[in-house]
Amino acid sequence: MKSHSIALIPGDGIGRDVTAAAWTVLETAAKHSGFALTGTEFPWSCRYFKETGRMMPEDGTETLRGFDAILLGAVGWPAEVPDSVSLHGLLLPIRKAFVQYANIRPHRLLPGVKGPLRAESFDILCIRENTEGEYSGAGGRVHQGTMDEVAVETSIFTRAGVERILRFGFEQARSRRRKLASVTKSNAQKYSMVFWDEITRKLAADYPDVEVTSYHVDALAARMIMAPESLDVVVASNLFGDILTDIGAAIQGGLGYAASANINPDRSAPSMFEPVHGSAPDIAHLGIANPIATIWSGAMMLDHLGEKAAAGRVMKSVEATTARGIGTTPGKDSTKAITAAIVAALT
Ligand code: IPM
Ligand code: MN
Repeated sequence: MKSHSIALIPGDGIGRDVTAAAWTVLETAAKHSGFALTGTEFPWSCRYFKETGRMMPEDGTETLRGFDAILLGAVGWPAEVPDSVSLHGLLLPIRKAFVQYANIRPHRLLPGVKGPLRAESFDILCIRENTEGEYSGAGGRVHQGTMDEVAVETSIFTRAGVERILRFGFEQARSRRRKLASVTKSNAQKYSMVFWDEITRKLAADYPDVEVTSYHVDALAARMIMAPESLDVVVASNLFGDILTDIGAAIQGGLGYAASANINPDRSAPSMFEPVHGSAPDIAHLGIANPIATIWSGAMMLDHLGEKAAAGRVMKSVEATTARGIGTTPGKDSTKAITAAIVAALT
């Protein structure tokens, strides 16, 4: 029987509950579809940091390299470890080491889920550049702690990096409704963002079948609220994509539904699948975290592994479950109850 090896990193807080939930659903879907998933769990987390002084071992990424994919819950426990330490010790290095340059986040309403907008029929795919830009980690601080202190954080935009994420966006648009929104702030940032706009125009010549529009990020943020149906694929830099996808999560009913895939399109290293939400320390002990964002991310993982039928099965079960009003009201259904309903709906 065909088998895929998956590295499981539950991480912190609700990450543990939602990863366990997703794994139950994915294993069941695999069984129904005639293939196997083998999971290897890694305890890398803030707790691990407290014990070892590292978020993951020095050779952590090399250990992960041998897997077909990575399923991650959430990283962060700011009461114990500063976020800037935990994220730069686990999540962000994996995205960079494995050149997961495309962070894909779908935003649409599941049946039965009420969003905050009047609009209901939007279907947006946000593609966020995931390895450079504003989050490259280039910078420093001098004269620390004095009145002369200076902090510099430099955005890095490379031609190779911008071209590949835009090409990825054009390709996604081609497989959907053939509309691409390219997001910058080139009226204010006259080097990197003008550069991005230029490359967008250059590549547009290769995709005459895709209707491409350049937007400023502030205008696009408003459009996601006022006219989300007008958008198809949105492609943006790391920071802008980060912010826009939290808006996307909000309009789809909340972070409990927002899935994401960190894709290495060349398949030279494993891709990583995780919900957009964090570890939610405030509700971590309550057993009420919505696992749907992670289960949806798991469906994206199956799709990436070529298991399209199983991915479709998972999404159908999620949709059948929310259509019955299960997992649609924050705090009403337990993580276990939502998971059980989704497993039961799998055929
Ligand atoms: C996300 C998260 C992360 C990011 C944080 C935790 C570093 O907000 O995946 O959107 O911005 O990449
Ligand atoms: Mn974010």
